[in-house]
Amino acid sequence: MADDLRSFLETLEKIGKLRVVSGADWDLEIGTINELMAERQGPALIFDNIKGYPPDFRVATNLLHHKVGQKLAFGFREDMTDLECVSEWKNKWNEYKPIKPVIVKNGPIKENVLTGDEIDINKFPTPKWHTHDGGRYIGTGVVTITRDPKDGWVNCGTYRVMIQDKTTLAFYASPGKHATIMREKYWAMGKPCPVAMCFGQDPILFAISTMSLPWGVSEYEMAGYIKGKGVEVMIDPGTDLPIPASAEIVACGFSPPPEVDSRPEGPFGEWQGYYASGTRNEPVVHIETLYHRNNPILFGQPPVKPPVNTWFPIPIHTATFLWNQLEKAGMMDIKGVYVHGPGNRIIAVISLKQRYLGHAKQIATLAGAFLQGGACTGRYIITVDEDIDPSNLDEVLWAVCTRCDPEKYIDIVPGFLTSPLDPMISPDKRARKDYTTAKVFINACKPYHWKDQFPPINVAEPELRKKVLSKWANLFKEVEFCT
Ligand SMILES: Cc1cc2nc3c(=O)[nH]c(=O)nc-3n(C[C@H](O)[C@H](O)[C@H](O)COP(=O)(O)O)c2cc1C
Repeated sequence: MADDLRSFLETLEKIGKLRVVSGADWDLEIGTINELMAERQGPALIFDNIKGYPPDFRVATNLLHHKVGQKLAFGFREDMTDLECVSEWKNKWNEYKPIKPVIVKNGPIKENVLTGDEIDINKFPTPKWHTHDGGRYIGTGVVTITRDPKDGWVNCGTYRVMIQDKTTLAFYASPGKHATIMREKYWAMGKPCPVAMCFGQDPILFAISTMSLPWGVSEYEMAGYIKGKGVEVMIDPGTDLPIPASAEIVACGFSPPPEVDSRPEGPFGEWQGYYASGTRNEPVVHIETLYHRNNPILFGQPPVKPPVNTWFPIPIHTATFLWNQLEKAGMMDIKGVYVHGPGNRIIAVISLKQRYLGHAKQIATLAGAFLQGGACTGRYIITVDEDIDPSNLDEVLWAVCTRCDPEKYIDIVPGFLTSPLDPMISPDKRARKDYTTAKVFINACKPYHWKDQFPPINVAEPELRKKVLSKWANLFKEVEFCT
């Protein structure tokens, strides 16, 4: 497993999954190249010689959009199926033993330490990613580090960051996110919130920062557990926050209460495929110390319009937690859980062996409550029988089309939390800050009372298929070869 962004890029290069792009413009060109490449599921990109910047101030994108990158970052074998990856991670969480970060005095991040008038965040070639972005977003693949003022634990979360001026950054963290809660606690005490923002780091730390771990569980300790050794951090003396010692760029500073300073943030091309949240005033961070490595690499993971998946193609960050929560709530005979749609957050599918009347509905309603934490999250909850692979949307659709009577087996329940990024928040709802959505529960399992009389499935029995496949092996080899 890689220890920093550079070693990850080296591995991608070795396996032929990295391309260097020289001389692109930060102003929409890098963003559009990234978009076109992500749409084609192409290789990772590293941009150098960016127009107007020193040749070795680089930007890396498209690292985790594709399954190869995600599997490498998470340490999955290449031949594992998507559902196997989800299942393996689910089991890993259950054996979780925190490994604390290791505090070191020095690290590559200290190669350049800038304070006072030396600070200028514009020294990095931050792209303007999308046509209607309200500014340049340095934080798209960011890890934002905060400490809870009461409990003392350190959170790492990914929340987008827009440059305001050379020492000021605005950051958008949705209601209920851990950094949102922590910063509000400092502000309630009349204090600014210490913040460190890391713009290029070990991909597993980034990946874990995008996951909704429970309150009190530090992403640093989780990353240590996954890696099997503590993440090396050094303490920023100004904020007293631990920052990754091998990071590329880190800005440390303080976020004052919004009534003291907040700035217009957005629009931003968001992961649902729209610029839905427009421009609002959001909290800022005033940078007091800016760290960067020599020849820094800014990591970008900007959203691209769905169905391109700009987060992680395999829903480790949503499906594993949902599966675990359902099992911990005592739900039996769950065969698989998968989450589809933009950001792998919106359409949850749970496959189960129905044991009793209402089993599927019980699981679905719990899943609707558990799957939350962002715009449109868990808007559609679909339950299917155990013969349906929940990771295969075509199979799921077949079940919805053939095992669900819409009159009886679809329920719509209003009033769940969504967020300002939800494109379906109407102007009047937006004006009264009513960020709620209905959830739809689709029971596409065979109706429990007469499941045993349900028409048989038109597919050859497994034994017959096996026998025919082995007898006609040459024929099928040819078919596989053609496809
Ligand atoms: C690429 C990417 C960008 C994200 N951007 C934001 C964002 O701008 N604001 C936000 O609130 N959540 C964003 N998220 C989701 C959060 O990172 C996620 O909910 C995470 O669990 C937050 O950490 P927390 O649970 O410690 O608060 C993003 C996720 C990804 C993968």
